[in-house]
Amino acid sequence: MPILHKTENEAEFVNSAAGSIRDFIVGALRGKKTLRIALSGGESPLPVYAALAADKQIDWSRVHLFLADERYVPLNSNESNYGKIEKTLVSRVKNLRRFYHMNTREEPAKLASLYDALLKQQDSPLFDLVILGLGADGHTASLFPHSAALLEKRRLVAVTQKPGPDPQTRLTLTFPALLDSAKIIFLIRGKEKEPALARWLGEGGTVDETPAKGVLSHPDIEIFTAP
Ligand code: 6PG
Repeated sequence: MPILHKTENEAEFVNSAAGSIRDFIVGALRGKKTLRIALSGGESPLPVYAALAADKQIDWSRVHLFLADERYVPLNSNESNYGKIEKTLVSRVKNLRRFYHMNTREEPAKLASLYDALLKQQDSPLFDLVILGLGADGHTASLFPHSAALLEKRRLVAVTQKPGPDPQTRLTLTFPALLDSAKIIFLIRGKEKEPALARWLGEGGTVDETPAKGVLSHPDIEIFTAP
């Protein structure tokens, strides 16, 4: 069952989430030379990434960063997850081992297969830690409700479409990739997420309706929420 930390405000959210992530990284590096961490984009995790960048206990020279998903936009777009993570974390830490971004100059299907091939070169578990968010529609990474990518069992990266009035092509890790991890941490901010959170953790419902349900079989999930 996931461990839920309901925090009262952003400061408590950032401190407790960043503290848990730092403790995981420091502990995991006692037993491994390097770590592989997949980061989500969106807005909720950004202050946590900034706090991690300032944490002197983390040896970033032993951390490889990957993307859990990406918007299919130019890397210098303010929509780019690469750009957000570069700005709030990567540009602020010395000697990060590597940040494997998704080069959106490639066309989507080619880019998905390039990133898939990169991930397939790694040992198992693919990731030591995956950091995810939750959308108000119950999506996580860029796995949206009713998407064919929810059924993907073999490929680790898929091309999806963010639905709605302003559809957007996305690249996303699939459930086989997200679940091939030692730990998953969710960073969820915003009262508008409360119905999705209740559907996600509640009885009944389907992965097709609430995609985040697709990772609930993972044995080590920690959730941080804030209004
Ligand atoms: C993205 C994210 C996405 C995000 C949720 C929540 O590319 O947008 O990976 O899955 O985690 O949409 O986004 P917020 O944190 O901005 O609410």
